[in-house]
Amino acid sequence: MIPDDQVAQVRAAADIVDVINEFVPLKKSGREYKANCPFHEERTPSFYVVPDKGFYKCFGCGKSGDVFGFVMERQGLDFVEAVKHVAGRAGIEVHETKRAREEDDPNRPLYEINGFAKEWFRGQLVDPAVGAVARAYLEGRGISAEVAERFGLGFAPDEWRGLRDAAATHGLDEGLMNEVGLLGVSDRSKEPYDRFRSRIIFPIEGLSGKVIAFGGRILEGDGKDAPKYYNSPETPIYHKGHNLYGLSWARHAIRREETALVVEGYMDVVSLAANGFENVVAPLGTALTPEQAKLLGRYTTRVLLLFDSDAAGLKATFRAGDTLLEAGLHPAVVTLPPGEDPDTLVRSGGAAALNSYLDQAVDVLDRKLQILEEKDHFSSIERTRAAVDRLLPTIRAALDPALRDIYVAKVADRTGVRRETLEAELERSRPGLAHTRVEPVSRPRPQVTARFLRAGAEHQLLLMMTKGPEWVERAGELIAPQDFDDPSHRTIFQALLEAPELRAAPLSMDSVASDRFEEILSDPIEVAHGSDVFMKSVNRIRALVLDRRIKDIQRRLEATQNEDDKLALVSEKAGLTHELRALDPTILDKRSSTQIPNNLREPRR
Ligand code: UTP
Ligand code: MN
Repeated sequence: MIPDDQVAQVRAAADIVDVINEFVPLKKSGREYKANCPFHEERTPSFYVVPDKGFYKCFGCGKSGDVFGFVMERQGLDFVEAVKHVAGRAGIEVHETKRAREEDDPNRPLYEINGFAKEWFRGQLVDPAVGAVARAYLEGRGISAEVAERFGLGFAPDEWRGLRDAAATHGLDEGLMNEVGLLGVSDRSKEPYDRFRSRIIFPIEGLSGKVIAFGGRILEGDGKDAPKYYNSPETPIYHKGHNLYGLSWARHAIRREETALVVEGYMDVVSLAANGFENVVAPLGTALTPEQAKLLGRYTTRVLLLFDSDAAGLKATFRAGDTLLEAGLHPAVVTLPPGEDPDTLVRSGGAAALNSYLDQAVDVLDRKLQILEEKDHFSSIERTRAAVDRLLPTIRAALDPALRDIYVAKVADRTGVRRETLEAELERSRPGLAHTRVEPVSRPRPQVTARFLRAGAEHQLLLMMTKGPEWVERAGELIAPQDFDDPSHRTIFQALLEAPELRAAPLSMDSVASDRFEEILSDPIEVAHGSDVFMKSVNRIRALVLDRRIKDIQRRLEATQNEDDKLALVSEKAGLTHELRALDPTILDKRSSTQIPNNLREPRR
């Protein structure tokens, strides 16, 4: 830990605007600064920096914090690293922090014990005699000595006092050994004994690389009624819901590949690493928690879930999916063959086998739709109604406004329920942006920002067109009515082309469209950079048109068996994709993140 007074000194010296501006170009706006939020995708700025109060807040995704929080979030650093980064920029020396940290940390003895135990377990594994059976076991599971070394794997021999005696000769405190869960105390004799026995040991590291806990897997054939894995209990240095197994090793790869693979267990992490997949983590025997999701969010937004395909695994998948969405991440589901886990898959088929499944990852909402479809949930009105109820929580969970838009559109498309109706249902029980811890920044019209972000390009363009006939004329040159996805938007667009000054719904307009038009007319948003917003909306609408055509081709591709048709479709798709990329590269990124993670094997730089 860095002493509080030093942290305060750094905070006082740091210019939050300067620090944040290094990552996101800030524009001054009154006494505040704003930018497009670096933590979620957006087209209009809702990210604010308030230098007077020393914090930032995004009204779109809700992220907020002080200068250190920003650097932590943005750079994936821990608090101490973030303070050092900021201190460096402010020209303040905090180099003695490391010593201060070690000395001040009341948990230092617990880390020391774990460090000792890790080394002892490792020594047992490499001991020619003692570790032979464990080494053979690991080898049989495809874990080489190097991989075992990389993960610090060890072996707890089948003894009651191996670790205990070794620790005693080093003068380690038995009470503390008990506190970190390495020793138990016998009820009868009151003698301390080793908790981990006859198990392969997986040290669990915190982000700093210190060992915070252990998992131990029983050797095959041992003690049939003992649990397969024994894990350290919750301790002052270990909260399982706040840590992910493998993250200390995987974090750089996760950032580099812009993707995290989440698997169920220790063996999957190690076995995948042995096969070249470095970006892998596992929750520690719990359902994925919001803290774990947040932790992943420091490194990537794209998360692939690789849980079992049985009913329990699917349930865990969707639960984790919603938790990840709530943290602003984009989860996709990888469906493994029944009975397989990532470990068995790479062991039988190598990296290629797993890659072929990763390539078919499906966005979590799409997977829900698939399953509902398989179970015939769209066959009647009642069943569709029930299906919508099961889909709403996932849409609601999506924090990223762009993703949420996509979800609403998808569900509307699949169920036939109008988008407006879905939005209304969502709005009814929306938690809202109210309960963030940092005081909201005072700024004009805070309540409309989130809605405006979600409103979508069609709404924005129509809104611009109501600002003056010159916009109607320009829009008419650039966009055709059929480019609108929403039929009522199409109707409004046509009405405006016919009467650019129209400021009330004509009687001839259908009720859905006229309601929508009234809504647009009463939108209190004042558009500051009109031209900019206009062109962004136009481009976005065009990109979405291309995107729909590409998806349509994809559907036809999947439906056809004819090789010639396939070839023609593939080349048409390539042409459109090229066009789309030129127009809006982000839509492709978004798509690949929600459907096909195509950059997994070739890490992007
Ligand atoms: P699995 O039973 O799927 O084990 O448990 P695994 O990871 O595939 O291990 P192998 O391949 O059989 O060796 C998944 C995870 O659930 C937790 C562990 O974290 C494990 O990695 N678990 C499982 C426990 O904590 N205790 C148990 O008794 C079993
Ligand atoms: Mn397994």
